Amino acid sequence: MTVLGNQAVRDIETVLHPYTNLAAHRDTGPLMLERGKGVFVYDSRGKDYIEGMAGLWCLSLGHGHEELIEAATAQLRKLSFAHLFNGKSHDPAVELAEALKAMAPTPTSKVFFCNSGSEANDTQVKLVRYMNNALGRPAKKKIIARDKAYHGVTVASASLTGLAANHTDFDLPIPGILRTACPHYYRGAQDGESEDDFASRLAAELEALILAEGPETVAAFIAEPVMGAGGVVVPPASYFPKIQAVCDTYDLYVISDEVICGFGRLGTPFGCQALGFRPDSISVAKALSSAYVPIAAVTVPETMYEATLEASRRIGVFGHGFTYTGHPVAAAVALKTLEIYARDRIVEQVAAKAPQFLAHLHRLADHPLVGNARGLGLVGGIELVADKATKRSFDPKLGVGARCVRFAEEEGLIVRALASDTISICPPMIITPAEIDELFARLDRALARTLESVRHG
Ligand SMILES: Cc1ncc(COP(=O)(O)O)c(C=O)c1O
Repeated sequence: MTVLGNQAVRDIETVLHPYTNLAAHRDTGPLMLERGKGVFVYDSRGKDYIEGMAGLWCLSLGHGHEELIEAATAQLRKLSFAHLFNGKSHDPAVELAEALKAMAPTPTSKVFFCNSGSEANDTQVKLVRYMNNALGRPAKKKIIARDKAYHGVTVASASLTGLAANHTDFDLPIPGILRTACPHYYRGAQDGESEDDFASRLAAELEALILAEGPETVAAFIAEPVMGAGGVVVPPASYFPKIQAVCDTYDLYVISDEVICGFGRLGTPFGCQALGFRPDSISVAKALSSAYVPIAAVTVPETMYEATLEASRRIGVFGHGFTYTGHPVAAAVALKTLEIYARDRIVEQVAAKAPQFLAHLHRLADHPLVGNARGLGLVGGIELVADKATKRSFDPKLGVGARCVRFAEEEGLIVRALASDTISICPPMIITPAEIDELFARLDRALARTLESVRHG
């Protein structure tokens, strides 16, 4: 058994860790990270790791970007806090709303600020309800989300999320959330079904669900362009256009959860643009501030705004908002982040580096453990399987994905094991071509060690 140091013991005795096997953590202890620079982080013993997951799909500009540090510091000095309640405002919030409105992939009237992706999607749920009440169609409230979706962990967002661990024993989901299939071709396609036929079948299933529920009761559809936490699921090219057509037919409000895909991750400014759909609203977070400070946002189209305006006349107030909605420091950092994306042509950079990244990823499809390698832009996943021919997964109890993550850590690479032993890779968008090669060299070594450990039981 590992003998844990003082630092590890202090962690175990005090911190309740999110997304951690709390029982195993008591034996293994934490990986204590101390500092970072660019795509590298260093643990408390000085060992370096490539941030293969950009933190949690978020640290787009890497660690220690002086301009972001300067933006935060300057704003802290100037106006450390101000809120947006009761009609108060400040320049960073207005400027950031203007910037987001101008760049949003969908006609946007206003921008609502939150602190996390979960809060953004919770806000979406509330706004959909509010809008349909204001529009005099109180029965139109149900929201469709997909199996394996990840939209966050607050009560409504976790209900949109389609992963068992986020529901079991939390008494979720809440009523009014409908579930439709995930566009995971490798896992979901029937024998001999083409990608296009698979997409058509999923669109037909969506339509059947709406008709069975009654279109007058179904209000919205929410989707991540490329699913992240559900296993880096890249849909077939014709999937979203077909889904969009169904949503249009039944007047569904379409929400693109751009929390991972927004701001260039897929090589386009927003993920919906890479995948060919036109949402009514987007949720953004993470790369909005390169993760330096918590901030998220929801775009509000004119019809939605008109409805909230009308409700305010009736109720007296728009009764939603967080203490830190539009926090000036977060807004200042986000503004600077957007300025850097534009100046350094980050979206174009991602598009230019994607072929090298994806070539490495697809090369891994030949590895004996890799059943499927998939990705888009600078995000990818490799699904480890026990039998490539039958696509049989490993017994989850074997923890093969977790083993690979541990070997990767020993090789100096941070990646994550998602459901079904999918190893996800999502490096900072500023990663250089040489660093991409190094990332995959470390992953190759981790996979070789995983294979050896599987072969030897
Ligand atoms: C697509 C997506 N939506 C929402 C969320 C929730 O964001 P947060 O963890 O900031 O609440 C995440 C987090 O990973 C996400 O990937």
